[in-house]
Amino acid sequence: MEWGMKNRIAQLIKPDGHCLFLPIDHGYFQGPTRKLEKPGETIKPLLPYCDAIFVTRGVLRASVDPENTKPIILRVSGGTSMVGKDLSDEGITTSMEEAIRLNVAAVGISIFVGSEHERESLLNLSKLVDEGEKYGIPVMAVTAVGKELEKRDARYLALSSRIAAELGARIVKTYWCEDFEKVVSGCPVPVVMAGGPKVDTELEVFEFVYDGMEKGAIGVNLGRNIWQNDYPVAMIKALRAVIHKKATPKDANEIFLEEKAKKKVRSD
Ligand code: 5RP
Repeated sequence: MEWGMKNRIAQLIKPDGHCLFLPIDHGYFQGPTRKLEKPGETIKPLLPYCDAIFVTRGVLRASVDPENTKPIILRVSGGTSMVGKDLSDEGITTSMEEAIRLNVAAVGISIFVGSEHERESLLNLSKLVDEGEKYGIPVMAVTAVGKELEKRDARYLALSSRIAAELGARIVKTYWCEDFEKVVSGCPVPVVMAGGPKVDTELEVFEFVYDGMEKGAIGVNLGRNIWQNDYPVAMIKALRAVIHKKATPKDANEIFLEEKAKKKVRSD
C-alpha cells in the first residue's frame, strides 16, 4: 500500500484497530434533519470524542473550523432527495480534485444493491475507487437501502458489503443486523456500523454496537443516535468506551447515566 493511502487510513482507524466516525451528512438528501439544523453547533461539543466526521463539502466549508477539526470523510454521492422519485438514483457530486483541495482522509459513496439504479451506483463506486487509488484516497462504501429499512437483514447486507469490497472499497459502512457475523465474515475489508433512525433507549444502541464489535466490526459511523439524543456528549462518551475500551452495554449505560447526571447538575 502506498504511503499516502496508509497514512490516511491510519488517521481514521486508531492504533487499537477501532474507530468512531461521526456522520453529519444527512442533509444531503434529508435537508435540515432534526438536531442537525446547525451542524457546526451540533458537532462542537462532540468533536473531541470522535475519530473522524462524515460530511459533504458544503457543510464542511460552512460549518467546520479548518484549524480545529478531525479527519474528514467527504460524502461525494448525492443528487436525490427525500421528496424525489427515487433515492437510489445518485451520482457522484464532488470531484477527486475537490477532495484533495479539502485535504480529506477518505471519500464516501452510497451503493444501492437491488434497486433500480444498482448498476449506476456500483459503477460510480468503481470509478471513484479508480480515482481514489490514483491519489491515495480510500473510498468508504455505504450500503444504502433508501426508504426500505426492512431490507436490513444479514443476507442482503452481506451481499451488498461483499460487492462493495469486490469493487475496491477500502472500508464498508453497513447496518448492524441479527447474525452480523455473516456480514463481517464475507467482507474482506473493515466494516463499520451505521446507527439508523433513533431507537427508544440508549441501552439498545450500546447493545447492538457491542454485539457488532464482538462479531468483527471495527467501529461505527453513527449519527442520529448520538446527536438526536438529549445528552449527546454522554452518548458519544459511552459509545467511545464500547469501541475503544471494550466496555459492556451495562458499563456503557452507567457511563451514559453518570455523564447525563453531571450535565444536569451543571445546567440546574
Ligand atoms: C446518511 C448516511 C449516514 O452517514 C449513516 O446513515 C449513518 O448515520 P445514522 O447513524 O444517523 O444512520 O449515510 O446518508
